Amino acid sequence: MSTEPEYRPGLEDVPAAKSAVSFLDGKKARLEYRGIPVEVLARESCFEETAWLLIKGDLPTQKQLADFDFDLRQKRAIHYRLKDLIKCFPADAHPMDALHASVAALGMFYPCKTVADPAKNWDASVRLLAALPTVVTAFARTRTGEEILDPRPDLDHAANFYYMLTGREPTPATRKVLDACLILHAEHTMNASTFTARVTASTLANPYQVIGAAVGSLSGPLHGGANEEALTQFEEIGGPEKVKAWLDAKRAADPKYKVMGLGHRVYKVKDARASVLQEIAEHAFAETSRPAAYDTAVALEKYAEGIYGPKGIYPNVDFYSGVVYQSLGIPTDVFTPIFAIARVAGWLAHWHEQLVGNRIFRPEQISVGKTDVPYVPLERRP
Ligand code: COA
Repeated sequence: MSTEPEYRPGLEDVPAAKSAVSFLDGKKARLEYRGIPVEVLARESCFEETAWLLIKGDLPTQKQLADFDFDLRQKRAIHYRLKDLIKCFPADAHPMDALHASVAALGMFYPCKTVADPAKNWDASVRLLAALPTVVTAFARTRTGEEILDPRPDLDHAANFYYMLTGREPTPATRKVLDACLILHAEHTMNASTFTARVTASTLANPYQVIGAAVGSLSGPLHGGANEEALTQFEEIGGPEKVKAWLDAKRAADPKYKVMGLGHRVYKVKDARASVLQEIAEHAFAETSRPAAYDTAVALEKYAEGIYGPKGIYPNVDFYSGVVYQSLGIPTDVFTPIFAIARVAGWLAHWHEQLVGNRIFRPEQISVGKTDVPYVPLERRP
Protein backbone atom coordinates (compact mmCIF):
# COMPACT_ATOMS: atom_id res chain seq x y z
CA MET A 1 0.00 0.00 0.00
CA SER A 2 1.30 3.46 -0.91
CA THR A 3 2.26 5.76 1.96
CA GLU A 4 2.47 8.76 -0.34
CA PRO A 5 0.80 11.81 1.22
CA GLU A 6 -2.32 13.09 -0.51
CA TYR A 7 -1.59 15.96 -2.89
CA ARG A 8 -4.07 18.81 -2.76
CA PRO A 9 -3.64 21.30 -5.61
CA GLY A 10 -3.52 24.83 -4.25
CA LEU A 11 -3.13 23.33 -0.75
CA GLU A 12 -6.91 23.41 -0.45
CA ASP A 13 -7.98 22.70 3.15
CA VAL A 14 -4.36 22.13 4.22
CA PRO A 15 -3.57 24.24 7.32
CA ALA A 16 -0.34 26.20 6.83
CA ALA A 17 -0.19 27.86 10.26
CA LYS A 18 -1.99 28.33 13.54
CA SER A 19 -3.16 31.93 13.58
CA ALA A 20 -5.14 34.18 15.90
CA VAL A 21 -5.10 37.19 13.55
CA SER A 22 -8.45 36.63 11.85
CA PHE A 23 -11.29 34.14 11.55
CA LEU A 24 -13.28 33.27 8.43
CA ASP A 25 -16.41 31.18 8.08
CA GLY A 26 -17.04 30.96 4.34
CA LYS A 27 -20.46 29.37 4.68
CA LYS A 28 -21.79 32.16 6.90
CA ALA A 29 -19.82 35.02 5.27
CA ARG A 30 -18.32 35.76 8.67
CA LEU A 31 -14.94 37.50 8.84
CA GLU A 32 -13.49 38.67 12.15
CA TYR A 33 -10.27 40.52 12.90
CA ARG A 34 -9.05 39.41 16.34
CA GLY A 35 -12.65 38.39 17.08
CA ILE A 36 -14.37 41.59 15.93
CA PRO A 37 -16.63 41.34 12.85
CA VAL A 38 -15.14 43.20 9.90
CA GLU A 39 -18.41 44.98 9.11
CA VAL A 40 -18.42 46.48 12.63
CA LEU A 41 -14.87 47.72 12.12
CA ALA A 42 -15.72 49.12 8.67
CA ARG A 43 -18.57 51.15 10.18
CA GLU A 44 -17.12 52.09 13.58
CA SER A 45 -13.32 52.00 13.41
CA CYS A 46 -10.61 53.61 11.31
CA PHE A 47 -7.70 52.02 9.44
CA GLU A 48 -5.12 53.14 12.02
CA GLU A 49 -7.01 51.46 14.88
CA THR A 50 -7.67 48.34 12.79
CA ALA A 51 -3.98 48.01 11.90
CA TRP A 52 -3.05 48.20 15.59
CA LEU A 53 -5.73 45.64 16.45
CA LEU A 54 -4.43 43.21 13.83
CA ILE A 55 -0.76 43.54 14.72
CA LYS A 56 -1.02 43.90 18.50
CA GLY A 57 -4.02 41.63 19.09
CA ASP A 58 -6.32 44.00 21.00
CA LEU A 59 -7.95 47.38 20.46
CA PRO A 60 -5.57 50.19 21.50
CA THR A 61 -6.20 52.42 24.51
CA GLN A 62 -6.85 56.07 23.70
CA LYS A 63 -3.21 56.92 24.47
CA GLN A 64 -1.83 54.00 22.46
CA LEU A 65 -3.90 55.02 19.45
CA ALA A 66 -2.88 58.69 19.74
CA ASP A 67 0.83 57.76 19.99
CA PHE A 68 0.58 55.25 17.13
CA ASP A 69 -1.23 57.77 14.95
CA PHE A 70 1.45 60.37 15.69
CA ASP A 71 4.21 57.89 14.84
CA LEU A 72 2.50 56.94 11.56
CA ARG A 73 2.23 60.59 10.53
CA GLN A 74 5.94 61.09 11.30
CA LYS A 75 7.00 58.11 9.20
CA ARG A 76 5.04 58.97 6.04
CA ALA A 77 7.82 61.09 4.50
CA ILE A 78 10.39 59.28 2.36
CA HIS A 79 14.05 60.04 1.69
CA TYR A 80 14.55 62.46 -1.23
CA ARG A 81 16.75 59.90 -2.99
CA LEU A 82 13.92 57.37 -2.86
CA LYS A 83 11.72 59.98 -4.54
CA ASP A 84 14.43 60.41 -7.20
CA LEU A 85 14.55 56.66 -7.67
CA ILE A 86 10.77 56.49 -8.16
CA LYS A 87 11.02 59.31 -10.72
CA CYS A 88 13.37 57.07 -12.75
CA PHE A 89 10.89 54.18 -13.05
CA PRO A 90 9.45 53.82 -16.59
CA ALA A 91 6.24 55.83 -16.88
CA ASP A 92 4.42 52.85 -18.38
CA ALA A 93 5.41 50.46 -15.56
CA HIS A 94 2.56 48.87 -13.62
CA PRO A 95 2.18 50.56 -10.22
CA MET A 96 2.41 47.16 -8.53
CA ASP A 97 5.87 46.67 -10.06
CA ALA A 98 6.79 50.18 -8.92
CA LEU A 99 5.50 49.34 -5.44
CA HIS A 100 7.50 46.13 -5.35
CA ALA A 101 10.70 48.02 -6.19
CA SER A 102 9.83 50.83 -3.75
CA VAL A 103 9.31 48.43 -0.85
CA ALA A 104 12.73 46.91 -1.53
CA ALA A 105 14.19 50.43 -1.66
CA LEU A 106 12.51 51.35 1.64
CA GLY A 107 14.40 48.41 3.13
CA MET A 108 17.67 49.96 1.96
CA PHE A 109 16.91 53.50 3.12
CA TYR A 110 15.39 52.44 6.48
CA PRO A 111 17.05 49.07 7.14
CA CYS A 112 15.92 46.51 9.68
CA LYS A 113 18.72 44.04 9.15
CA THR A 114 17.78 41.40 11.69
CA VAL A 115 14.42 40.46 13.10
CA ALA A 116 15.74 39.84 16.61
CA ASP A 117 14.87 43.21 18.15
CA PRO A 118 11.12 43.69 18.84
CA ALA A 119 11.52 47.50 19.07
CA LYS A 120 13.13 47.64 15.62
CA ASN A 121 10.53 45.25 14.22
CA TRP A 122 7.76 47.53 15.46
CA ASP A 123 9.54 50.56 14.03
CA ALA A 124 9.76 48.88 10.61
CA SER A 125 6.08 47.91 10.84
CA VAL A 126 5.03 51.52 11.43
CA ARG A 127 7.33 52.64 8.61
CA LEU A 128 5.78 50.17 6.16
CA LEU A 129 2.22 51.08 7.11
CA ALA A 130 3.00 54.81 6.91
CA ALA A 131 5.18 54.91 3.79
CA LEU A 132 3.31 52.60 1.40
CA PRO A 133 0.73 55.31 0.53
CA THR A 134 3.62 57.74 -0.04
CA VAL A 135 5.49 55.54 -2.52
CA VAL A 136 2.30 54.48 -4.33
CA THR A 137 1.14 58.08 -4.82
CA ALA A 138 4.67 59.26 -5.69
CA PHE A 139 4.78 56.89 -8.66
CA ALA A 140 1.14 57.50 -9.63
CA ARG A 141 1.85 61.24 -9.94
CA THR A 142 5.39 61.33 -11.30
CA ARG A 143 4.61 58.97 -14.20
CA THR A 144 2.17 61.54 -15.60
CA GLY A 145 4.57 64.43 -15.01
CA GLU A 146 2.81 65.66 -11.88
CA GLU A 147 4.75 66.87 -8.87
CA ILE A 148 5.18 64.38 -6.01
CA LEU A 149 3.29 65.76 -3.01
CA ASP A 150 4.65 65.64 0.52
CA PRO A 151 2.41 63.95 3.09
CA ARG A 152 0.16 66.22 5.16
CA PRO A 153 0.54 65.52 8.89
CA ASP A 154 -2.80 67.24 9.61
CA LEU A 155 -4.70 64.53 7.66
CA ASP A 156 -5.46 60.99 8.79
CA HIS A 157 -4.20 57.91 6.91
CA ALA A 158 -7.04 57.62 4.36
CA ALA A 159 -7.41 61.37 3.78
CA ASN A 160 -3.67 61.86 3.41
CA PHE A 161 -3.50 59.06 0.83
CA TYR A 162 -6.27 60.67 -1.21
CA TYR A 163 -4.59 64.07 -0.92
CA MET A 164 -1.16 62.74 -2.01
CA LEU A 165 -2.78 61.00 -4.99
CA THR A 166 -5.09 63.74 -6.25
CA GLY A 167 -3.83 66.98 -4.68
CA ARG A 168 -7.28 67.50 -3.16
CA GLU A 169 -8.63 66.86 0.32
CA PRO A 170 -11.40 64.26 0.22
CA THR A 171 -14.95 65.11 1.24
CA PRO A 172 -16.06 63.36 4.46
CA ALA A 173 -18.01 60.78 2.40
CA THR A 174 -15.02 60.01 0.16
CA ARG A 175 -12.72 59.74 3.19
CA LYS A 176 -15.14 57.32 4.84
CA VAL A 177 -15.36 55.11 1.73
CA LEU A 178 -11.59 54.96 1.37
CA ASP A 179 -11.08 54.28 5.07
CA ALA A 180 -13.71 51.50 4.97
CA CYS A 181 -12.05 49.99 1.86
CA LEU A 182 -8.71 49.94 3.69
CA ILE A 183 -10.31 48.22 6.70
CA LEU A 184 -12.15 45.67 4.54
CA HIS A 185 -8.95 44.72 2.69
CA ALA A 186 -6.63 44.71 5.72
CA GLU A 187 -6.67 40.96 6.45
CA HIS A 188 -8.17 37.73 5.21
CA THR A 189 -6.70 34.62 6.87
CA MET A 190 -4.34 32.37 4.87
CA ASN A 191 -4.68 33.82 1.36
CA ALA A 192 -1.87 33.56 -1.23
CA SER A 193 -0.05 36.79 -0.34
CA THR A 194 -0.30 36.18 3.41
CA PHE A 195 1.04 32.68 2.92
CA THR A 196 3.85 34.18 0.84
CA ALA A 197 4.58 36.65 3.65
CA ARG A 198 4.69 33.85 6.23
CA VAL A 199 6.93 31.62 4.09
CA THR A 200 9.33 34.53 3.57
CA ALA A 201 9.12 35.47 7.27
CA SER A 202 9.98 31.89 8.22
CA THR A 203 13.43 32.32 6.66
CA LEU A 204 13.98 35.30 9.05
CA ALA A 205 14.21 37.63 6.06
CA ASN A 206 13.88 41.30 6.94
CA PRO A 207 10.37 42.84 7.02
CA TYR A 208 10.84 44.74 3.75
CA GLN A 209 11.63 41.47 1.98
CA VAL A 210 8.60 39.87 3.65
CA ILE A 211 6.28 42.65 2.47
CA GLY A 212 7.94 42.85 -0.96
CA ALA A 213 7.33 39.13 -1.51
CA ALA A 214 3.70 39.54 -0.48
CA VAL A 215 3.29 42.49 -2.88
CA GLY A 216 4.49 40.27 -5.73
CA SER A 217 2.01 37.58 -4.79
CA LEU A 218 -0.85 40.08 -4.54
CA SER A 219 -0.17 41.44 -8.02
CA GLY A 220 -1.60 38.44 -9.90
CA PRO A 221 -5.06 38.60 -11.51
CA LEU A 222 -6.32 35.65 -9.47
CA HIS A 223 -5.61 37.59 -6.27
CA GLY A 224 -5.33 41.37 -5.85
CA GLY A 225 -5.43 42.08 -9.57
CA ALA A 226 -9.04 40.91 -9.79
CA ASN A 227 -10.58 44.31 -8.93
CA GLU A 228 -8.90 45.90 -11.94
CA GLU A 229 -10.01 43.04 -14.18
CA ALA A 230 -13.56 43.21 -12.81
CA LEU A 231 -13.88 46.87 -13.73
CA THR A 232 -12.45 46.26 -17.22
CA GLN A 233 -15.04 43.52 -17.60
CA PHE A 234 -17.95 45.84 -16.63
CA GLU A 235 -16.69 48.40 -19.13
CA GLU A 236 -16.43 45.70 -21.82
CA ILE A 237 -20.05 44.65 -21.13
CA GLY A 238 -21.13 48.25 -21.68
CA GLY A 239 -24.34 48.50 -19.65
CA PRO A 240 -26.80 46.51 -17.51
CA GLU A 241 -29.02 45.65 -20.49
CA LYS A 242 -26.10 43.91 -22.22
CA VAL A 243 -25.19 41.61 -19.32
CA LYS A 244 -27.21 38.57 -20.42
CA ALA A 245 -25.97 38.58 -24.02
CA TRP A 246 -22.37 39.12 -22.86
CA LEU A 247 -22.31 36.28 -20.34
CA ASP A 248 -24.23 33.88 -22.60
CA ALA A 249 -21.69 34.51 -25.39
CA LYS A 250 -18.72 34.04 -23.06
CA ARG A 251 -20.10 30.77 -21.72
CA ALA A 252 -20.93 29.52 -25.22
CA ALA A 253 -17.33 30.15 -26.29
CA ASP A 254 -15.87 28.67 -23.07
CA PRO A 255 -18.08 26.76 -20.62
CA LYS A 256 -15.38 27.28 -17.93
CA TYR A 257 -15.24 31.05 -18.50
CA LYS A 258 -14.38 32.85 -15.24
CA VAL A 259 -16.26 36.01 -14.40
CA MET A 260 -13.84 38.37 -12.65
CA GLY A 261 -14.83 39.25 -9.08
CA LEU A 262 -16.87 36.07 -8.62
CA GLY A 263 -15.86 32.99 -6.67
CA HIS A 264 -13.62 32.32 -3.73
CA ARG A 265 -11.76 29.35 -2.34
CA VAL A 266 -13.42 29.76 1.06
CA TYR A 267 -16.66 31.73 0.59
CA LYS A 268 -19.60 29.75 -0.66
CA VAL A 269 -22.01 32.68 -0.16
CA LYS A 270 -21.64 36.37 -0.97
CA ASP A 271 -18.50 37.80 0.63
CA ALA A 272 -19.53 39.98 3.63
CA ARG A 273 -16.98 42.57 2.54
CA ALA A 274 -18.71 42.97 -0.83
CA SER A 275 -22.03 43.65 0.92
CA VAL A 276 -20.56 46.25 3.33
CA LEU A 277 -18.65 47.91 0.51
CA GLN A 278 -21.84 48.20 -1.54
CA GLU A 279 -23.70 49.70 1.40
CA ILE A 280 -21.01 52.33 2.08
CA ALA A 281 -20.54 53.03 -1.62
CA GLU A 282 -24.23 53.70 -2.20
CA HIS A 283 -24.02 56.47 0.43
CA ALA A 284 -21.01 57.94 -1.35
CA PHE A 285 -22.68 57.73 -4.78
CA ALA A 286 -25.36 60.05 -3.44
CA GLU A 287 -22.59 62.65 -3.20
CA THR A 288 -20.52 61.85 -6.28
CA SER A 289 -22.49 60.21 -9.07
CA ARG A 290 -23.63 56.65 -9.54
CA PRO A 291 -21.16 55.13 -12.01
CA ALA A 292 -22.53 53.30 -15.04
CA ALA A 293 -20.22 50.37 -14.27
CA TYR A 294 -21.92 49.97 -10.88
CA ASP A 295 -25.31 49.35 -12.50
CA THR A 296 -23.66 46.83 -14.85
CA ALA A 297 -22.08 45.10 -11.86
CA VAL A 298 -25.40 44.87 -10.00
CA ALA A 299 -27.09 43.43 -13.11
CA LEU A 300 -24.25 40.93 -13.62
CA GLU A 301 -24.42 39.80 -9.99
CA LYS A 302 -28.16 39.19 -10.37
CA TYR A 303 -27.89 37.26 -13.65
CA ALA A 304 -24.82 35.29 -12.52
CA GLU A 305 -26.53 34.21 -9.32
CA GLY A 306 -28.96 32.05 -11.27
CA ILE A 307 -26.08 30.34 -13.09
CA TYR A 308 -23.32 30.09 -10.49
CA GLY A 309 -25.25 30.41 -7.20
CA PRO A 310 -25.96 26.67 -6.95
CA LYS A 311 -22.15 26.07 -7.13
CA GLY A 312 -21.55 28.56 -4.31
CA ILE A 313 -19.96 31.16 -6.59
CA TYR A 314 -20.89 34.68 -5.54
CA PRO A 315 -19.28 38.14 -5.62
CA ASN A 316 -16.07 38.54 -3.66
CA VAL A 317 -14.78 41.90 -2.40
CA ASP A 318 -13.14 42.70 -5.72
CA PHE A 319 -16.42 42.63 -7.61
CA TYR A 320 -17.39 46.08 -6.30
CA SER A 321 -14.17 47.66 -5.01
CA GLY A 322 -12.93 48.69 -8.47
CA VAL A 323 -16.21 50.43 -9.29
CA VAL A 324 -16.00 52.32 -6.01
CA TYR A 325 -12.39 53.39 -6.58
CA GLN A 326 -13.22 54.53 -10.10
CA SER A 327 -16.05 56.69 -8.76
CA LEU A 328 -13.50 58.40 -6.49
CA GLY A 329 -11.37 59.24 -9.55
CA ILE A 330 -8.63 56.71 -8.78
CA PRO A 331 -6.78 55.34 -11.85
CA THR A 332 -7.59 51.69 -12.56
CA ASP A 333 -4.03 50.42 -12.21
CA VAL A 334 -3.77 51.95 -8.72
CA PHE A 335 -6.58 49.70 -7.38
CA THR A 336 -4.29 46.80 -6.49
CA PRO A 337 -1.70 49.07 -4.83
CA ILE A 338 -4.55 50.33 -2.59
CA PHE A 339 -5.22 46.69 -1.70
CA ALA A 340 -1.53 46.44 -0.70
CA ILE A 341 -1.69 49.68 1.34
CA ALA A 342 -4.48 48.00 3.34
CA ARG A 343 -3.25 44.40 3.41
CA VAL A 344 0.17 45.39 4.71
CA ALA A 345 -1.51 45.50 8.15
CA GLY A 346 -2.49 41.82 7.88
CA TRP A 347 0.86 40.80 6.40
CA LEU A 348 2.67 42.50 9.28
CA ALA A 349 0.40 40.85 11.84
CA HIS A 350 1.25 37.46 10.33
CA TRP A 351 4.94 38.34 10.19
CA HIS A 352 4.98 39.10 13.93
CA GLU A 353 2.98 35.93 14.63
CA GLN A 354 5.28 33.79 12.46
CA LEU A 355 8.35 34.96 14.36
CA VAL A 356 7.00 33.50 17.62
CA GLY A 357 8.15 29.88 17.69
CA ASN A 358 9.22 30.15 14.04
CA ARG A 359 10.09 27.10 11.97
CA ILE A 360 11.19 27.49 8.38
CA PHE A 361 8.62 26.31 5.80
CA ARG A 362 9.86 23.28 3.96
CA PRO A 363 6.93 21.29 2.55
CA GLU A 364 7.14 18.05 0.60
CA GLN A 365 6.65 17.46 -3.11
CA ILE A 366 5.38 14.45 -4.98
CA SER A 367 8.12 13.71 -7.47
CA VAL A 368 6.76 12.78 -10.87
CA GLY A 369 9.88 13.33 -12.98
CA LYS A 370 12.39 10.83 -14.38
CA THR A 371 15.08 9.34 -12.14
CA ASP A 372 18.50 7.82 -12.83
CA VAL A 373 18.82 9.51 -16.23
CA PRO A 374 22.32 9.05 -17.73
CA TYR A 375 24.16 12.23 -18.71
CA VAL A 376 24.87 12.29 -22.47
CA PRO A 377 27.89 14.46 -23.35
CA LEU A 378 27.00 17.34 -25.72
CA GLU A 379 29.07 15.98 -28.64
CA ARG A 380 27.06 12.75 -28.61
CA ARG A 381 23.74 14.59 -28.77
CA PRO A 382 22.08 15.55 -32.07
N1 COA B 1 -16.67 32.39 -12.77
C1 COA B 1 -17.21 31.23 -13.21
N2 COA B 1 -16.93 30.04 -12.67
C2 COA B 1 -16.09 30.01 -11.65
C3 COA B 1 -15.50 31.18 -11.13
C4 COA B 1 -15.82 32.40 -11.73
N3 COA B 1 -15.27 33.55 -11.30
N4 COA B 1 -14.70 30.86 -10.10
C5 COA B 1 -14.78 29.53 -9.98
N5 COA B 1 -15.59 29.00 -10.91
C6 COA B 1 -15.91 27.59 -11.10
C7 COA B 1 -14.76 26.87 -11.81
O1 COA B 1 -14.90 26.90 -13.20
C8 COA B 1 -14.85 25.51 -11.22
O2 COA B 1 -15.90 24.84 -11.87
P1 COA B 1 -15.88 23.22 -12.05
O3 COA B 1 -16.00 22.66 -10.66
O4 COA B 1 -17.08 22.95 -12.90
O5 COA B 1 -14.58 22.89 -12.71
C9 COA B 1 -15.29 25.73 -9.78
O6 COA B 1 -15.98 26.97 -9.80
C10 COA B 1 -14.12 25.83 -8.80
O7 COA B 1 -13.21 26.82 -9.33
P2 COA B 1 -11.67 26.88 -9.00
O8 COA B 1 -11.00 27.80 -9.96
O9 COA B 1 -11.14 25.47 -8.89
O10 COA B 1 -11.71 27.53 -7.57
P3 COA B 1 -10.45 28.02 -6.75
O11 COA B 1 -10.85 27.93 -5.33
O12 COA B 1 -9.22 27.33 -7.19
O13 COA B 1 -10.27 29.54 -7.21
C11 COA B 1 -10.64 31.86 -7.41
C12 COA B 1 -10.78 30.61 -6.51
C13 COA B 1 -10.97 33.10 -6.60
C14 COA B 1 -9.18 31.96 -7.91
C15 COA B 1 -11.59 31.69 -8.61
O14 COA B 1 -12.93 31.67 -8.13
C16 COA B 1 -11.40 32.79 -9.64
O15 COA B 1 -10.55 32.66 -10.52
N6 COA B 1 -12.23 33.89 -9.57
C17 COA B 1 -12.08 35.00 -10.47
C18 COA B 1 -10.92 35.89 -10.02
C19 COA B 1 -11.23 36.65 -8.74
O16 COA B 1 -12.28 37.27 -8.60
N7 COA B 1 -10.25 36.64 -7.79
C20 COA B 1 -10.37 37.40 -6.55
C21 COA B 1 -10.38 36.50 -5.36
S1 COA B 1 -10.70 37.41 -3.88
